[in-house]
Amino acid sequence: MTKEPTVAFAEFATPKSGSAIVLVPEGGKLSDAAASCDPAGVLPRVFDTAEFKGKLAASVEIFAPQETQLDRLAAVGTGKAGALDENAWLRIGGAVAAAAKNAKEVTVVVDVADASPGARDVAAIGLGILLRSYRFDKYKTRKDDNGDNGRKDDKPVKYTIQCADPAAAEKAFAEASAVGQGVSLARDLVNEPANILGPEEFADKAKALEKLGVKVDILTEKELEKIGMGALLAVGRGSVRPPRVAVMRWDGGDSKQKPVAFVGKGVVFDTGGISIKPAASMEDMKGDMAGAATVVGLMHALAARKAQTNAVGIIGLVENMPDGNAQRPGDIVTSLSGQTIEVINTDAEGRLVLADLLWHCKEEFKPEFMVNLATLTGAVIVALGNQHAGLFSNDDALAERLAAAGKVTGEKVWRLPLGSEYDKLIDTKNADMKNTGGRSAGSITAAQFLKRFVDDTPWAHLDIAGTGMASPSSEINQSWASGFGVRLLDRLVADHYER
Ligand code: BES
Ligand code: MN
Ligand code: ZN
Repeated sequence: MTKEPTVAFAEFATPKSGSAIVLVPEGGKLSDAAASCDPAGVLPRVFDTAEFKGKLAASVEIFAPQETQLDRLAAVGTGKAGALDENAWLRIGGAVAAAAKNAKEVTVVVDVADASPGARDVAAIGLGILLRSYRFDKYKTRKDDNGDNGRKDDKPVKYTIQCADPAAAEKAFAEASAVGQGVSLARDLVNEPANILGPEEFADKAKALEKLGVKVDILTEKELEKIGMGALLAVGRGSVRPPRVAVMRWDGGDSKQKPVAFVGKGVVFDTGGISIKPAASMEDMKGDMAGAATVVGLMHALAARKAQTNAVGIIGLVENMPDGNAQRPGDIVTSLSGQTIEVINTDAEGRLVLADLLWHCKEEFKPEFMVNLATLTGAVIVALGNQHAGLFSNDDALAERLAAAGKVTGEKVWRLPLGSEYDKLIDTKNADMKNTGGRSAGSITAAQFLKRFVDDTPWAHLDIAGTGMASPSSEINQSWASGFGVRLLDRLVADHYER
């Protein structure tokens, strides 16, 4: 929300003013270009004094370095240079932005002793800078009360990244920054409070993707009734704000190619409904639409970088409120699939929303695969914390591709089991299934529930309750909302599903 920094690329030339940031591998060896920023040769002594060893994303800085007109000279560690993956370069970029705190003009010298970062690595540094610079500060009305930089209305920070092939880096960065915009969009949506962002307002945000060439259909409550999304509609019943479903399509691939599909839970606020939640931390439930936010951010990324693929994004936007009109525990609802569901707990609402979306997606689009994202269970936070999203899948190849994409992007996923012994925990005498499976294996029984709505379509469910919001701050994210999944799924598509 703070003005995004600008990032440009240039050839090596000793920076004469502003801030200079050099990259230093483990051991502290300076490259020629890095050494040229330090004519007085003070850095080795600084490293020694500060016990800076060049560890990945560590940094040290000095102000007004001798024999230069620079304001500041900083060093950021790369760790063992040589085999750094995308996530490492992103973290280095994040550390660069952190070291540039309060600076206005920054030159980053990407010349690393004993390593030769390529254009994609340099672009990842740029993306790391963008991601680290993100702030949600639109509701801060005082200029000086603005997180860690206090420069709300000032000009954006200007970064110039010096590297071996600036033209190639600029080209790679065009793609990376499209993905960065998608991440920022997802973060904005998750951070936005629910009084501002209801189902209709959220649907408008999806609609806005039309400017990038995405086709967007918004289904109203009436249309959802006509289609028969009885499970999704039951969740929205207690809210004065009517539900919406947004269907987004990016046709960048061969017209005969089956689309890849992404489905998101968009509960704009989850009170629990009649099975109301306790007050502690209930404010976090403004983020219960993180799955939908990621799908919108991903569609933005794919369209903005003109991905050569056909992709569908479907999000279900509802508010889960207690009310005289709300659904009750014990109610039996009929889903779009025709299967009936006994609602044991109105707080297990996400799966009701996804059940109809997944069925609709598979029937309407016959996709290559469906990946759904949802802040589905508190239990996944107990199991995996904020470090991995829960991954469930009926397709080993898809699961392995997701795990691999998770490793390179740093948006990590961990597969948990599915199985008939878990599936039977959601059987009930009164209907085809019930919406909770008891205290044990809460994330797994939720996934079993979803599985009943995908048939044979290759499918993966990402439970992002722990990773999509309230994430610990990292080199590349200082915001409550992480935008988790945009980079992961963009990489999945880029690596396997583009022509
Ligand atoms: N939105 C919550 C899950 C959640 C919890 C997300 C904490 C992020 C942080 C979901 O709708 C929910 O309430 N799940 C219940 C399911 C239970 C009633 C079977 C849960 O996890 O307690
Ligand atoms: Mn809930
Ligand atoms: Zn929820």
